[in-house]
Amino acid sequence: MSILQTVRTVTRPRHDLMESLIGSDRLSNFSVEDYKLLLSTNYLFHSHLEHQSHFFLSLKDENQEEQVKKLDFLNRIKKDSLEIELRAMLPVAIFQELKQQENTIHFSSFENLLGWLYVAEGSMLGGKMIHRILAQNKEIPLVTNFDFFKNYEEKTSYLWKSFKELVEQTCNTEQKKEMFLEGAEKAYLYFEAAFYKAKNILQ
Ligand code: HEM
Repeated sequence: MSILQTVRTVTRPRHDLMESLIGSDRLSNFSVEDYKLLLSTNYLFHSHLEHQSHFFLSLKDENQEEQVKKLDFLNRIKKDSLEIELRAMLPVAIFQELKQQENTIHFSSFENLLGWLYVAEGSMLGGKMIHRILAQNKEIPLVTNFDFFKNYEEKTSYLWKSFKELVEQTCNTEQKKEMFLEGAEKAYLYFEAAFYKAKNILQ
């Protein structure tokens, strides 16, 4: 089984859990409060992950220059579009509280970082579907332009394809595959924790 098939299989229960936390079966009836929670969770997850990734990648040595180039990290930034929406939708004090949450992400290796990014990049595939349903919702289109979902939309397939190639090329030993899988597991757990943190801040 390829590493991508493996990660998909072993993390499926975690994916199902995220779907039920968010409420994938009631997206068409989502309230504005539900949407704020969805964005705030994504904000905690992506802003922390992007910050740590940026730092980690800046320390990489010349041997990994090609891989870092292929990752095309700057093209994958989601934090800015999330900030645009949240600044417009949340009271300033609440947004500040979100911003002040402690970032506890760290990576043991480049392959471990790729495991985290697998979850971040893969989540944008479901994001396409989420956007399509929310765009038909009666309330949400009245309060936002969907900057976060729209920002990624047309480049989702291209970025996902090149990310998968990079993972196949890079995670080519048992040890590297283990580190990758560990990163993906941790990323799902971080997203779950971000959901409860955001819920607590917003209520
Ligand atoms: C309402 C919530 C969600 C829905 C409806 C949803 C739906 C989907 C769908 C339909 C796909 C497959 C898309 C395709 O193959 O073209 C997918 C893939 C994926 N989603 Fe989600 N998703 C949701 C939330 C999340 C969250 C919160 C995360 C991460 C924290 C996530 C991570 C992933 C990953 C990593 C993949 C790629 C799986 C693979 O092919 O290896 N999803 N999602």
